[in-house]
Order: sequence, then structure tokens, then C-alpha cells
Amino acid sequence: MAFPNRLLEDIRARIALADIVGKRVKLTRKGREHSGLCPFHNEKTPSFTVSEDKGFYHCFGCGAHGDVISFVMNTEGLSFPETVERLAADAGLEVPVETPEAREEAKRRADLYDVVEAACVWFEKQLATAAGAMALDYLRGRGLRDETIKRFRLGYATDGGSGLAVALKAMGADEAQLIESGLLRRPDDGRAPYPFFRDRVMFPIADRRGRIIAFGGRLMGEAKAAKYVNSPDTPLFDKGRNLYNFGAARQASFESGRLVVAEGYMDVIALSQAGIEDAVAPLGTAMTEDQIRAVWRLAQEPTLCFDGDTAGQRAAARAAERVLPLLEPGKSLRFALLPPGEDPDSLIARQGTAAMRQILEAAQPLSDVIWQMEVGAAPIDTPERRADLQARLERRVNEIGDATVREHYRSAVRDRLWASFRSSGGKARGKRSPQGNSGSHIRNQMRQQSRRAQQAILAALIHHPRLRDEFDEALDAVEFEPDLDKLRQQLQNLFAKSAHLDIEGIRAHFTVGGDIALLEGLLEKQVLVLAPFADPRAAIEEARRGLGHLIDRRVHERLRQEVVELGRSAAASADEAGLARALAAKRDAIESDRQLADIDE
Ligand code: UTP
Ligand code: MN
Repeated sequence: MAFPNRLLEDIRARIALADIVGKRVKLTRKGREHSGLCPFHNEKTPSFTVSEDKGFYHCFGCGAHGDVISFVMNTEGLSFPETVERLAADAGLEVPVETPEAREEAKRRADLYDVVEAACVWFEKQLATAAGAMALDYLRGRGLRDETIKRFRLGYATDGGSGLAVALKAMGADEAQLIESGLLRRPDDGRAPYPFFRDRVMFPIADRRGRIIAFGGRLMGEAKAAKYVNSPDTPLFDKGRNLYNFGAARQASFESGRLVVAEGYMDVIALSQAGIEDAVAPLGTAMTEDQIRAVWRLAQEPTLCFDGDTAGQRAAARAAERVLPLLEPGKSLRFALLPPGEDPDSLIARQGTAAMRQILEAAQPLSDVIWQMEVGAAPIDTPERRADLQARLERRVNEIGDATVREHYRSAVRDRLWASFRSSGGKARGKRSPQGNSGSHIRNQMRQQSRRAQQAILAALIHHPRLRDEFDEALDAVEFEPDLDKLRQQLQNLFAKSAHLDIEGIRAHFTVGGDIALLEGLLEKQVLVLAPFADPRAAIEEARRGLGHLIDRRVHERLRQEVVELGRSAAASADEAGLARALAAKRDAIESDRQLADIDE
């Protein structure tokens, strides 16, 4: 939209640049000039100046330069028209009625909304026809209630044919509009336009005001071609800006103060059907800056859900990296890692809403994720390695755009570093680590995770008798905590006598001659949430794979630990045979690393 120059001048005249800049940058006044730390690059001494007379800012460090409009655009991620409209409103200025061309354009857009809405209605109707019966079955088969299907306005696009085009043309749409809205596609070779969505279940995508602007279409069953296709970007739809279910989630998150960001349409719908209505999803891409800013308007700390497998962890790490430059006081992200291979939809189907809620509540803050990314990357058993860790963490911290947040991260990282160094060094000197610091919090969490993994291994064997024999030997390589180790022994003895004993039989044995509480501890939800393969309802192949993987992981971690300790004591005593043992152990650990990587890929 074109704004008259008068309006822009009035905005510059009426709004004090220093006031706007001062909301983000601590400014020191010198006459009619102000200076401060540049918000557009990292610096320790101020080279950013604001000239009130001239109405512009300039940074001698990075060259950033502009007026009040560009400042708001660049710091708040608004478009030019959005910025002008906002500042005009702030200044009490009237945005003049648009030009005839602009009115024409607005009318075109309005008509396009009608076209897309009509298409949505048409897709919805197909679910009730014979052609759409399979689609309806498919959706019901995925656990959706009819009321949910209606609420999300799901539909079906028929396999070819001109039904949609005919229906839309009958209500006045022309072919150009059908193409512009992405419903028809015109082939390059000059043949007639054809429907973009064919034989797909349709997920309408609404804008924040609830108007339908685009669609995602899913093939039923397992995909040969792309499982989902989404409308192309159109005058109404920008997949880097819009989010699935944003409008509905806005209301819900206003009430809950929370927001969940899932990966897919089905996740959002399943969450919503389970009563978690404050959920959105990006549209087939990783979250963009615009989308992060959009979710921050709904909640201070949205929770991102990721599959706990390697790819999901990588995606979580990327999201964490991407958000650092955007952080502002109070605003952050939380990270919920689901069990490997699960998304919210499958988790809710398999383990219910309570398990999902538990995982959301246990989501980790961004600072923990960043910390773990770096601490997990390499050992910290020498001064050089610790220095390296510190340098890597500092690089991350320097990515943070906001000075206040950056300072808090800097001091949190320092505290945590020293606490963890003290405690890893302290163990060797036989001192106890200080309690209640963040380092020990992480260690407690890791210890708990490790204990749950040990529990899961035993639970899997209890629930899947067929695996007992198969993994009997593999268990020898796993280290258990003393109480669990005793339990393991009892169980293995029991299995040796009667390999097929079921859970009730095992309980009976323990009620008489064992620690029943310890046994029940294995079967708790917290264990099964982390290791769904240990659940009695898991398929045997799933259990076999999951158990194998978990045992490998435990063994691998033990090897790593041994390498560190052997190396330490051999170095301390200058013992050559010991050093050779350490090297051999290291080779084993590397081999195990390699194998684990193979499994993870
Ligand atoms: P997923 O592959 O995780 O699928 O894609 P899903 O959401 O679990 O789908 P279901 O459960 O098999 O139905 C997550 C999101 O990525 C986009 C879609 O937006 C999807 O919801 N996507 C996925 C595509 O755009 N194209 C694809 O081929 C696959
Ligand atoms: Mn899914």
C-alpha cells in the first residue's frame, strides 16, 4: 500500500525517535544527541547515536542508519505498512483512505477470501459423499471424533474432475482467481489448468482472524508421493508467517498463558481434541523469525515439541540456536522432547492425554538446552577442555541480541560452569559438591534419567517374556544401581526358573519374598513415558528394537565413563599398563560411538 509522504513526515515529526529507541536501548543524553549500545550488533562500548534534531540514528560500529520507521521495522519485525499504521495510531494520525488502485486491490483480496472459503465448504461437503467416504473413514480411523472433524473443517479433495472448479465458477469465481488462490494449477505446457489437490484429505489453514486462506492436503495411507502438499504462497497465504490454528489457539492461550508448538496438522488437532487447545504448528518448515515473534505475542514461553530421536534433537538444537538473537527480557522457548519416534498425535493415541501433559510440564528451558548441547558435545576432564567448553558457551551467549538477557545468560553460564567444574574436580579430591546449585540440578536430572533407563530395561523384560532369553546375556554389560541390581538378579533368577511368568506371577513372587515397591517402581508412568517400548501394549518388534537400543546406550555410557576414569588414574600413577588399558577402552568406546550413530541414523 502506498502512503502519502505527508503522513510519513507527520509521523517523523510527532514521534520522538529517542523515546522509541529508548525502549530498547539505554541511552545517555549529550545535548540534542543520545548514545548507547547498538541494538543491531554486539558491542561493549557505545557507538550508536540518536540525533533528535535530524530524526535519525546512526551506528559508527556497524553502519546501521535510519529513522523512526526503519527502527521499528528492524527491531520489531513489522512490515513497512504495519509500522506506518502502528506509528500513525500512536501519534494520533489518521491513515488516509487509500487510492482507487489500493481499493481495487483490497477488493480483489476480499473476493479471494470468498473463493477460498467456498472451496473449504466444498471440500467439507465431499466427506459426506460416496467419493469422500474413504476420507471420512481415514479421519475416524486416526481417532478423530466427528465433532473435531467439523471444528477443524476437515474435508476431502476428489481425485481429479472439475467438480470444485464448476462449483466455484457457479458462484462467480473466475479461473484467474482459482489459480491465484492456489486451487488450480496451470501447467507450463499450455494444457488446461487442473486441480492442485487430488484425492487428499484436506486441512484448511486459517489466518489469525479465522478466515480460510490455504490448505494442506494429505494422501491417505502411506505415501508414495509427498505425504502432504500445501497451497503455494498466494496473496492471502505466506507459509513463513502463518501458523496452523493460530486464531483458535490465541483465545485458548490467552486463558492458559501457555502455548504449544507442534510439528504437524494432526498433532495440533489431536492435542486440541485432548483438551490442549492452545496449540499451533508451522506449515511444513522450521519456525521462522516471523513465526517466533508471532507465538511470543500469545505466550512468553511457548513450548516446542520435538521427536526424541536424533533428527528431532537436531531440530530442537537448531531452533534453540535460531532464537538466541531474538530473545527479549521475559521471552523464551521451552523444549519438550517426546520419546523417540513419537509425535503428540501418536503419543496421545498410545499413552493418553495425561502422559502428554506430563511431558509438556517437564519441558526444559532454553538455557538448559543450550547448556546440554555444549556440555554433551565433549568431555570436560582437563583444563583445556573446560576452557573450550567455556569458549563455546560464550560464543552462544554472544549470539543473544538483547543486552539484558545476554548479561543474565553470561552470569548463569559462569555459575553453572564453575559449579560443574568444582564438582567434577571435587569428586577426585573426595569433596562433596555444593548442593542446590544449577550444576547439581542437572546432575540430579541426569541421574534420574539414568535410573529410569535402568528401570525401563527391567520393565521391558517383565512385560515381554519373549525377550527374556534373548537379552539375558546382554544384561551382563549393563550397570545398575545397587537396589535395581538386586532386583535384576531376582528377576533373572525367576526367569531362569519360569521363563514365561507374567506380571501377576512376578508380583506374587515379590509380595512374598521381595521388594514389591521397588518392582512397582519399574512399572510407573514416568518410566513408560520415556521408554514406550517397555509398555505391555508395545509390539514385540518395537520392544526388541527399543530394548536393544537402550542397552547399547547404557553400555556405551559406561564405557565412556571408564575411559575417563582409567585415563585419570593411569595418568596419575604414570602406569604404562594402565595407560594401555585406557587406550583399549577408548577404542571400544569409539567403536560403540560408531555403532550407536549407525543405529540413530
Ligand atoms: P510429519 O511428517 O511429522 O507428519 O510432518 P505428521 O504431521 O506426523 O503427519 P501424519 O501424522 O503422518 O499425518 C509434519 C508437518 O510437516 C509438513 C506438514 O505440515 C505436516 O503436518 N509436511 C510433512 C509437508 O508439508 N509435506 C510432507 O510431505 C510432510
Ligand atoms: Mn503424526
